[in-house]
Amino acid sequence: MTRLLFIGDIMGSAGRKAVAGHLEELVDRERVDFVVANVENAAGGFGITAEVLAELEAYPVDVWTTGNHVWDKKEGVPLLDAHPALLRPANYPDGNPGRGWCIEETAAGVPVAVVNLQGQSLMPPIDNAFRKVDEVLEAIRNARPEVCLIIVDIHAEATSEKQAMGWHLDGRVTAVLGTHTHVPTADERILPQGTAFQTDVGMTGPYESIIGMKPAKVLERFLLNTPRPFEPAKRDIQLRGALIDADDATGKATAIKRVTVKAK
Ligand SMILES: [Fe+2]
Ligand SMILES: [Fe+2]
Repeated sequence: MTRLLFIGDIMGSAGRKAVAGHLEELVDRERVDFVVANVENAAGGFGITAEVLAELEAYPVDVWTTGNHVWDKKEGVPLLDAHPALLRPANYPDGNPGRGWCIEETAAGVPVAVVNLQGQSLMPPIDNAFRKVDEVLEAIRNARPEVCLIIVDIHAEATSEKQAMGWHLDGRVTAVLGTHTHVPTADERILPQGTAFQTDVGMTGPYESIIGMKPAKVLERFLLNTPRPFEPAKRDIQLRGALIDADDATGKATAIKRVTVKAK
């Protein structure tokens, strides 16, 4: 059995504080073998930087996923080519920096593939994630036929599209976990063919906020219908994610549990 932990969008300094204060203890307590964390908002809510990634690398995370915000900090984009375990969604058109999947190993030597995808509904237009993931699974099979454990981050806005990805991949991957909305859903389950699924695992960051930002400026945007600078919130910090138990031989999930750690 391998126990996987998947952490939702780490949001700004508050999200990094949650990781710094609680991840190591959580990994020890739950005997986690492999950790994936989404860092698209890790640098002030928008993208990543070398400094922020270096800070987060002090903690036990094996693979970093991202999403639409990964491009926000120009200085962060070259990291996508330089860092083999930092992913961007696989269905951005070919020719962009970085990669959309990778294979890393647990301390016990069990290989785990991680695939990063992005939805098309209510998101910037990119390639079809459903067609792309079929290609990626084929590429993983060709690269390392022994890989059984596969985790998919579906970074998308529409709940329907994320659930559709769960059913598209049911029985073919270990887990399909949603990110991007910053709001955890209460629908974690094992689909009929053995794939763990949760529509969105939620943000790791400040919950006294509107999806991670201080409410006042966001409200102004809704009231005035013109752009306002947003400021990351700082209060009610929580680490959110999902814990998945998987059978190493079949790659199927046997359990999925929501994780909430409230920062002290
Ligand atoms: Fe996000
Ligand atoms: Fe996003």
